[in-house]
Amino acid sequence: MAGLRATERRLILANVDRPGYTPDIECYLRHGGYEALRKALRMQPRELVDEVKASQLRGRGGAGFCCGVKWGFIRPDEKKPVYLICNADESEPGTFKDRPVIHRDPHQLIEGMIIAAHATRSHLAYIYIRGEFPQGAKILERAIEEARQKGFLGENILGSGHSMEIFVHRGAGAYICGEETGLIESLEGKRAYPRIKPPYFPAVLGLYQCPTIVNNVETLCQVVHVVRMGGAEFAGIGRPNNTGTRIVSVSGHVNRPGYYEVENGAWTLGQIICDLAGGVRGGRGIKAIIPGGSSAKVFRMGEKVRLKQKQSDGTVAAKEVDILDIPFDFDSIAEAGSMSGSGAIIVMDDTTDIVAVLNNLNHFYAHESCGQCTPCREGSLWMQKITDRILSGEGRPSDPALLANVADNIAGRTVCAMGEATAWPVQSFVSKFRDEFDAACNKAQS
Ligand SMILES: Cc1cc2nc3c(=O)[nH]c(=O)nc-3n(C[C@H](O)[C@H](O)[C@H](O)COP(=O)(O)O)c2cc1C
Repeated sequence: MAGLRATERRLILANVDRPGYTPDIECYLRHGGYEALRKALRMQPRELVDEVKASQLRGRGGAGFCCGVKWGFIRPDEKKPVYLICNADESEPGTFKDRPVIHRDPHQLIEGMIIAAHATRSHLAYIYIRGEFPQGAKILERAIEEARQKGFLGENILGSGHSMEIFVHRGAGAYICGEETGLIESLEGKRAYPRIKPPYFPAVLGLYQCPTIVNNVETLCQVVHVVRMGGAEFAGIGRPNNTGTRIVSVSGHVNRPGYYEVENGAWTLGQIICDLAGGVRGGRGIKAIIPGGSSAKVFRMGEKVRLKQKQSDGTVAAKEVDILDIPFDFDSIAEAGSMSGSGAIIVMDDTTDIVAVLNNLNHFYAHESCGQCTPCREGSLWMQKITDRILSGEGRPSDPALLANVADNIAGRTVCAMGEATAWPVQSFVSKFRDEFDAACNKAQS
């Protein structure tokens, strides 16, 4: 494996597992809490946006969009109210990174949100938390009240002239409510049918048709550290365009499933799986890895990917590497043909029935399709029925190609990226494990 090894670097998780650390405001203040906010309130909104741009912070919710650029879409002379929404839906299967922060260090998120609101001239913010997280909602409501008591929320925060309120909104528990425009519809009290972009880019036409910034929990927590250390220093962590740290949720057949915080690009996929997550249970081999939540395209163990790498003479050349040697960062995983998405790494050992895994995913996406777009609504169910058929021993030799064909007709043909989320697992599983799908279908015929 490539020699990128480092130690876990905890910024956001620094206090989360600290012995004796409690989620109340006094404990947060004793550990330096709300100091970044004091600093931010002395800065002009424009300066804050520039600082976040300089940090090159990219969103941690899935798409990896540059946070400072998103904030920069809000016009300084905006006449309409500007809203801030924290996306705490955490609905991508395999992802469990936002919940520990909400439960054990909620003030870090509240502080990040107040800074973000100041930067974007927002006076009203919502935390949209998935319905299955009732305890997290209560913890956040308590933290908001504590912050208000201390003067960090409400009118004229710490005498800065900036005023704001935060409200917690509980979702009804649907995957599509994590998609930002579906989330906004849900927050408005409607069914979470995603909106078409353009024109409904939230930063332009969001909540109540007003400019709205939607950021993930982890992104907003990162903002605290950007302000604390300054954008340039933050940009020095990781590598260009892939800066800062990243929380990865590692699950599946590993000895130590859990969340880990790593410097972007400093660890390879193999190092995260073997060194942090303790390797595969029973010392077995790896068969497949999903690198960024269940909608990311799967990697097959043994496949080679081409990555551009910097040579010792400074030139850049493409090199073939094993999947375990792919550095874990946005650009490297994308270059290798998948995405780091929500940072959820799902590991499958060599006993895994690949057709059964895809069938499991197909059931999830068919169940969660909101039904607005025909290709996603119908196609996800057709794909589920095909893998049901293969698993039940009734598969036809034409089924693998049929699966791929249905998936090809969903991706790119829907209002939101749920179409891709539904299609990518099918496309990648069938193309990379075609032998296993063919064998399962041919067995059925013989
Ligand atoms: C189907 C679907 C589900 C999503 N679920 C989530 C989610 O649970 N949490 C999240 O932060 N982003 C989720 N996203 C991404 C959001 O639409 C949005 O890009 C993100 O909240 C922006 O925040 P960021 O820029 O801080 O990453 C989802 C996207 C799609 C297409």
